[in-house]
Amino acid sequence: MPDVVSHLVDAFGADVVSVGPIDERFHGDWSGVARTSPLAVILPRTTDEVATALRICHAHGQPVVPQGGLTGLAGGATPRCGDIAISMERMSAIEELDAAAGTVTVQAGAVLQTVQEAAVAAGWQLAYDLGARGSCQIGGNLATNAGGNRVIRFGMAREQVLGLEVVLADGTVLRSLTKMLKNNAGYDLKQLFIGSEGTLGIITRAVLRLQPLHRSRSTALLAVPSFDAVVAFLRHAQRTAGGVTAYEVMWPEFYAYMTAELAVGRPLPVDDSFVVLIETSGDDPEHDPQRFETMLAEAVERGLLSDAVIAASERDSRRFWELREAEPIDRLPSVVNFDVSLAIGDLAEFAAECEQLIRRRWPDAHVFVYGHVGDSNLHISLSVGRIEESVLHEIDDLVYGVVRRWHGSVSAEHGIGTLKRDYLSVTRSAEELDVMRRIKAALDPAGIMNPTKVLP
Ligand code: FAD
Ligand code: LAC
Ligand code: ZN
Repeated sequence: MPDVVSHLVDAFGADVVSVGPIDERFHGDWSGVARTSPLAVILPRTTDEVATALRICHAHGQPVVPQGGLTGLAGGATPRCGDIAISMERMSAIEELDAAAGTVTVQAGAVLQTVQEAAVAAGWQLAYDLGARGSCQIGGNLATNAGGNRVIRFGMAREQVLGLEVVLADGTVLRSLTKMLKNNAGYDLKQLFIGSEGTLGIITRAVLRLQPLHRSRSTALLAVPSFDAVVAFLRHAQRTAGGVTAYEVMWPEFYAYMTAELAVGRPLPVDDSFVVLIETSGDDPEHDPQRFETMLAEAVERGLLSDAVIAASERDSRRFWELREAEPIDRLPSVVNFDVSLAIGDLAEFAAECEQLIRRRWPDAHVFVYGHVGDSNLHISLSVGRIEESVLHEIDDLVYGVVRRWHGSVSAEHGIGTLKRDYLSVTRSAEELDVMRRIKAALDPAGIMNPTKVLP
């Protein structure tokens, strides 16, 4: 047994440090990056245990990989051979819901859906939401600065954080579990760790801001004749119906594929339109639905919509979301997923350019375009058949080449991990990369925190 593992076992016992054959769930995340067994898994129960574990690993120059719910899509939580995984799954408590402050204090391993449900039970809502809610953890959400389905209204995970507790690489505990909305006392250090993908420290606890629970929600699926109309309709909806909470768009091929593959029917009988899933929420259950319908009727009159179907029940709404969640895409061979952002008005031309380049090389490719268009964030999922690693690079080069020309971002919400590390410079200047490296060196001088992730 390597020296460092013996030290860890001595410090914690076999209940906290798992060695020998490691349970497969710790071998990697959802990204498809090659799965590897870590050398050992530490399952701490307290912040002090995280600090002790890091102190020992730091003293031995032992690389560690923080693991949350392992739903990440960039390879950030996937170990390399010889890494020690630190899984946060036992630190899953909701410590306090402060109804006066409108905050919830949680341990990093709390599962998103559990926290959402606790907030609703207390008459509040946690504002962000994503498809992986049943497995992903608050710590993972913050480490990736997750986006999801309600960013247009409430912002990304970052915007929900008031306080954070982090353990640095050398075991130092940085605790700032404040509940204040305003706190300009010097540098806002917590922001460094949010979105840093476990490369600067381990998030152990957080104070999240809650929003009052909305009492009405309206959902509709809409056929929109052009991308210009997609953007014009979004602004119309925001001006006239107020609280647009989600604005998701499916390109025609995506909608055709989902309606063919899923047992949810075909709520809109369209072939060549953009399909928008819109959700609004508010506090006037008596009048909000009527306001929503009037807003849609005005848009039809203005030629922004050609058809609309409003969810009449929670079941309808679930059906609409199921179409958008895109689960059947995973059944295609060697799917390559992109998560890019650029100015909203450029998204359709950008997507068309990517598709054209892909089809020139692979005429029979599946090219699915969809995403959080209200946040100017597109997901593109491609399948050109079963492929080798070299072809994957060819596809990446092609798509990120277009992202570069449009001055976009190679990651809107999923993060960099290892999957997009070689393309970080598409979006970040040499000067920005240099500052990132200096921050990394200052906080993790021994380079043990999730090495090889994020920074090339
Ligand atoms: P993991 O996958 O375990 O880890 C992610 C990264 O964070 C890794 O780099 C890891 O080292 C680090 N990390 C984890 N916990 C900690 C911690 N406590 N301290 C420090 N570092 C840590 N993302 C979106 O943004 N929007 C979406 O709409 C969205 N939808 C998704 C839908 C599905 C079906 C799936 C599978 C994923 C989706 N994702 C989405 C990806 C998203 O990044 C993750 O679901 C989530 O934020 C990651 O949380 P996790 O707990 O699973 O983290
Ligand atoms: C989504 C994930 C993939 O938006 O980010 O469905
Ligand atoms: Zn997404």
